[in-house]
Amino acid sequence: MASIERTLVLLKPDAVARGLIGRVVQRFEDAGLKVVGTKMVQIDAELARKHYFDLEERFGKSVFDVTANFMQTGPVIALVLEGVEAVANVRRLVGVTFPNQSAPGTIRGDFAHTSKAYTEAKHIVAANLIHASGNVEEAKYEVDLWFDSSELFDYQTVAEKYVF
Ligand code: PPS
Repeated sequence: MASIERTLVLLKPDAVARGLIGRVVQRFEDAGLKVVGTKMVQIDAELARKHYFDLEERFGKSVFDVTANFMQTGPVIALVLEGVEAVANVRRLVGVTFPNQSAPGTIRGDFAHTSKAYTEAKHIVAANLIHASGNVEEAKYEVDLWFDSSELFDYQTVAEKYVF
């Protein structure tokens, strides 16, 4: 049976500055994902380091530096989304890391298809609008890192109550 999961999504500083919060959240809600936690956060170097703790090892120091620095350039919106296989489903809705490789219809493919997404070192992408947990284990770590249990809510959507 398909499992109900929770996943962490961050609307990065470019998404907030471009006024895309509402449209991006709408995409997730339209796809049947439920917002069970949300807040706006100005992150500091320590939270960036905890969040991207393995990025340097996986992709190198410059990817870590660019990504962690970019995340501190303005406030982000943190969301916990819940739904059927939410971790993989959210990643599909978001698109792939590089906006120019993200298909039309994905959030990055539709909104982040801009040269501004890239730093001078063209292989590093910064302004790709969204972070979404990569797998179920990462999602658990990230939800716990960003949210206290008192900030997460259990409730029924209208669809859960009446439609399905
Ligand atoms: S991957 O490729 O899907 O496994 O990457 P992911 O774990 O989602 O996240 C990698 C984060 O690093 C940022 N970034 C890059 N990743 C890979 N290669 C290059 N060159 C690169 N440049 C930047 C990328 O935007 C991801 O940031 P988050 O915030 O996690 O989305």
